[in-house]
Amino acid sequence: MDQNPYHVPVMVDEVVEMLRPVDPRLIIDATYGGGGHSRALLDAFPNLSIVALDRDPEAIARGPAEPRLRLIRSNFASLEQIAAEICKGSGSGTPVSPCIDGSLFDIGVSSHQLDEPERGFSYRRRGPIDMRMDRDAELGAGAIVNEWPVDDVADILWRYGEERMARRIARAIVAARPIHDTTHLADVVKAAVPAAARRRKHPARKVFQAIRIAVNNELDSLRLGLEAAIRWTRPGGRVLVISYHSLEDRIVKRRFAAGTEGCVCPPDFPVCTCGRVAELRSPVHKPVRPSADEVAANPRARSALLRMAEKAER
Ligand SMILES: C[S@@+](CC[C@H](N)C(=O)[O-])C[C@H]1O[C@@H](n2cnc3c(N)ncnc32)[C@H](O)[C@@H]1O
Repeated sequence: MDQNPYHVPVMVDEVVEMLRPVDPRLIIDATYGGGGHSRALLDAFPNLSIVALDRDPEAIARGPAEPRLRLIRSNFASLEQIAAEICKGSGSGTPVSPCIDGSLFDIGVSSHQLDEPERGFSYRRRGPIDMRMDRDAELGAGAIVNEWPVDDVADILWRYGEERMARRIARAIVAARPIHDTTHLADVVKAAVPAAARRRKHPARKVFQAIRIAVNNELDSLRLGLEAAIRWTRPGGRVLVISYHSLEDRIVKRRFAAGTEGCVCPPDFPVCTCGRVAELRSPVHKPVRPSADEVAANPRARSALLRMAEKAER
């Protein structure tokens, strides 16, 4: 057994079972990572092909040569173009219609990204303040921490970390410049908050989350990727998202809820005049969480929430 796996995939059986009724032939794995979900899906469905994306070239480079798996280094924010191209290729003529049976977004960072100190994602490991999933991206966390004005730093800590002490921590960060590495940043944050806040979870947790989300523009990417997945999923196909914190989950929950809304005419109208038809169905209303056994075996699964929506037949 690999003592230090690239990534242990979360809720694999649940993902496979959610996609089973679809009898999938084509799935988009929007977040390939260590490929655990892709592997399980390929094993479960012999007629399946997967197009898998990851914005981290390291994840793509590790992928196997497997005829049913096509790996693309890309941000899933570009899924609109990628899916349009795929569906164009699958049909005989125009207009191009949605052709995807299922998509999976398992968002956030992989264990490999977190565990490699030089990627700068972890407040527990000393490394450069980087946090870029795509190392060719221009903005690294170092610029935010060491160059941004205090108001902008406070703003992202508040918006993406939901950090109540955002202003206080931002002031401490600016006062401590230059901040050399991740553990230095974690120490500055720790020293900035009152002792009571230090006794709960590590105070740097939300700060690192906030900076990471800003560096990788994670929430906008999720909105764009989700929109494209919904658009290019064929009727009866399914979109699955595993999220790890409330900001991500809120985006998914709201988008799925908006998609399941049909006619919005006042209830006393005898006939529908708005013409609005639900684009999604929600066969599973509540998000699925990992079992206690899974969390015991893989504590990083703890905060995972799996949501699913099905494209309505029109
Ligand atoms: C939680 S891991 C996925 C693990 C994967 N499901 C597995 O079974 O190993 C998240 C992965 O998604 C990638 N990622 C995050 N945001 C992305 C985005 N906007 N576009 C493409 N890949 C992204 C990360 O680089 C990381 O490799």
